[in-house]
Amino acid sequence: MKFGFFDDAKKEYVINSPKTPYPWINYLGNQGFFSLISNTAGGYCFYKDARLRRITRYRYNNVPLDMGGRYFYINDNGTIWNPGWSPVKTPLDFYECRHGMGYTVITGKKNDLKAEVTFFVPQNYDGEVQQVVLTNESKEAKSFSIFSIAEWCLWDAQDDCTNFQRNFSTGRVEIEGSTIYHVTEYRDRRNHYAFYTVNDTIDGYDTDRDSFLGSIYNGWDNPETVKADKPANSFADGWSPVASHYKKVTLAPGESKTLIYILGYAENPQDKKFAAEKPANLLTRETWVLNKEKAYAMIEKYNTPEKVAAGLEELRNTWNDLLSIFNVNTPDDKVNRMVNIWNQYQCMVTFNLSRSASYFESGIGRGMGFRDSNQDILGFVHQIPERARERLIDIASTQLSDGGCYHQYQPLTKKGNADIGGDFSDDPLWMILSVAAYIKETGDWGILDANVPFDDDPNGKHTMLEHLNVSFYHIVNNLGPHGLPLAMRADWNDCINLSCFSDTPGESFQTYTNPKFAAEGGYSKVAESAFVAALFTYTGPAFVGILEHLRKADEAAKAQAEIDKMKKNVMESAFDGDWFIRAYDANGEKMGSKECEEGKIFIEPQGFAVMSEIGKDVGADIKTLNSIDKYLNCEYGLVLNNPAFTKYYIQYGEISTYPGGYKENAGIFTHNNAWIICAEAYVGRGDKAFEDYSKIAPAFTEETSDIHKTEPYVYGQMIGGKDAKNFGQGKNSWLTGTAAWNMVAISQYILGVQPVFDGLKVDPSIPHEWDGFTAVRKFRGATFNITVKNPEHVCKGVKAMTVDGKAVEGNVIPVCESGTHEVEIVMG
Ligand code: GLC
Ligand code: GLC
Repeated sequence: MKFGFFDDAKKEYVINSPKTPYPWINYLGNQGFFSLISNTAGGYCFYKDARLRRITRYRYNNVPLDMGGRYFYINDNGTIWNPGWSPVKTPLDFYECRHGMGYTVITGKKNDLKAEVTFFVPQNYDGEVQQVVLTNESKEAKSFSIFSIAEWCLWDAQDDCTNFQRNFSTGRVEIEGSTIYHVTEYRDRRNHYAFYTVNDTIDGYDTDRDSFLGSIYNGWDNPETVKADKPANSFADGWSPVASHYKKVTLAPGESKTLIYILGYAENPQDKKFAAEKPANLLTRETWVLNKEKAYAMIEKYNTPEKVAAGLEELRNTWNDLLSIFNVNTPDDKVNRMVNIWNQYQCMVTFNLSRSASYFESGIGRGMGFRDSNQDILGFVHQIPERARERLIDIASTQLSDGGCYHQYQPLTKKGNADIGGDFSDDPLWMILSVAAYIKETGDWGILDANVPFDDDPNGKHTMLEHLNVSFYHIVNNLGPHGLPLAMRADWNDCINLSCFSDTPGESFQTYTNPKFAAEGGYSKVAESAFVAALFTYTGPAFVGILEHLRKADEAAKAQAEIDKMKKNVMESAFDGDWFIRAYDANGEKMGSKECEEGKIFIEPQGFAVMSEIGKDVGADIKTLNSIDKYLNCEYGLVLNNPAFTKYYIQYGEISTYPGGYKENAGIFTHNNAWIICAEAYVGRGDKAFEDYSKIAPAFTEETSDIHKTEPYVYGQMIGGKDAKNFGQGKNSWLTGTAAWNMVAISQYILGVQPVFDGLKVDPSIPHEWDGFTAVRKFRGATFNITVKNPEHVCKGVKAMTVDGKAVEGNVIPVCESGTHEVEIVMG
């Protein structure tokens, strides 16, 4: 069952029923100001940091689920409705939500009155613009009223939802004309404020939530003021400050009126915080006056429909440009819309927000993840390489000089998060991959010389190359009894906690390590990760390639020797005959082996082991892929492990706490499905790669949205696995490494357009039925029009390549001069 459709020409998903199986959201803003907006206009906004600088309030895990946001209420002679249906839920005569690239348009119609609301965050602007177009489609004049509402968050979202003894007494506002200012704590220690304005006169307002609702017993679905068609004109004094405008409108038949609301954020320099004079029309309870110059300028910028149209146009152009860098035309529309539109769009969102704020992440719990952000760059780097470079330097600056890393950092402070700490064994390796991806995209070898400090030596002179070096050797220097990397607290899978042995409720599996390992430095020196071993052998060659390019032959040879040794150790101790084991636990027992009672096979190490060609000479690669197909494959994707754990294994930790089929216990963790898709493509099984891809790529789930539940235009972290009662049900949509990795899987492995250090490789591994495909790729200043022909209907193999009509040996397009170049590839 579907709840809408893709409008590919407009790059929109169009939702035509407000009762989607879960709130289907979009993200507005891609620089400093961000909003989450659901298909019924629920959600919230923040500036840069969803925890520390929250602008509007949101109640998570609410009943009903998605309550609170920015709403418009219309009172049309007693019929009260919202353009987005919720919160009043009056049945509408027409409803539509169009989620587009950085904007959302929600349209509702009731009794011949139409309200079309466009929400967007313009480029280089710290505010959400909401343009409301009201049209009287009836044959008579209509008089009605419109209320807006936004509830302020008192800045720190964590404190805001816990510290009520203080927060119910701190709220402050100012009102000037049609603008309501939120100034809580401004006089004291803050220099930022927020505002909500409308570009017209108003007939009343409210700034105190309970006055707007009329009673503490009312919800957003039933505000007294809206029902009575009479604002309370309340002035907030503590409690919960809000901003609501009241406006009476009369429209002749066929007439339209446009109102432009702006929800904005601004900061003042310390010495310009206050205005010298108090304007006559200012409503305040304070003896001081907020300096509103910045707000005035922001309001001026979008106070007419023409200016709004120009802002939208600029946003559209920005996205059209971003999406023109890589563009394909394959025989499959669903692939085209994923690659050309939605997957790239999601990559921008994950790059911006890591795992911080979604409808499954509260924005409070997590900052930017070290491994997460490094992987996000893999799917984003071609869009705005300069931003990727800046991010790489920020991330690397939180690394320690021994190669260890803080697992997370706060975007506002850019400092490693001490609560979570480090010792996640895989973290450093992802940075080798992301820096290499950046160089492959741009050819900017200069990043290796960039001055990048270590967290424990903030003033020292260090280079990015040194960071890569300590990252690589952090693995080499932390090996266990079988010569495999120590697993430490977790190794990509946050729920395999081999040093935890936790039997006490509330201990965090990620940060708690059992005191019995204290003497060993905090974690087991026996537990080893075969996954990190395979990630090391997959990533290591990029490091070697960098050293070779820099003509550091000795260092390259030394690193290569470590990779070769690791491959040997894996074959000796971690190959189980038909697949690679997952780990050795702290008791020295195998995890993810035929010998185990449950969890005999895990997905994680397999893809990277195959792509590292570990044991290829004895057929380990194909045996492994066949085992995955046999034990992990099911209707909706590949499960993470099998059989699912049915007991608590204290030696494994969190993974065995989930009911079978969910999350890391045999859920379909789409992130690592991508690694298998890459591996299938790598070995040339293009049919299989595509089959695995089409099980999880969101556009392919559209028809079964009632089962899949989450948005059909973006990946979620997890889909219920074959052991789950809710088999096929998606969760944790939007913020997942799947976005980047499946972008890599489809573009670089299946379609095979892959940046390498010295050019652009084209090595497709496609379904054999395809006659070919075309792609446009902008790369290092040139544009390549690539035509791939598959006359013999093979899955993989490049027989011939021409660039601008001239035959080129192999399948790497050399770096070319700017301008457009025609590339033809014949498979066979
Ligand atoms: C989540 C985390 C990621 C982790 C994965 C597996 O997606 O963001 O860091 O690797 O779960 O536990
Ligand atoms: C991390 C992971 C998530 C995992 C959770 C367990 O947040 O991202 O996948 O389930 O840890 O607490």
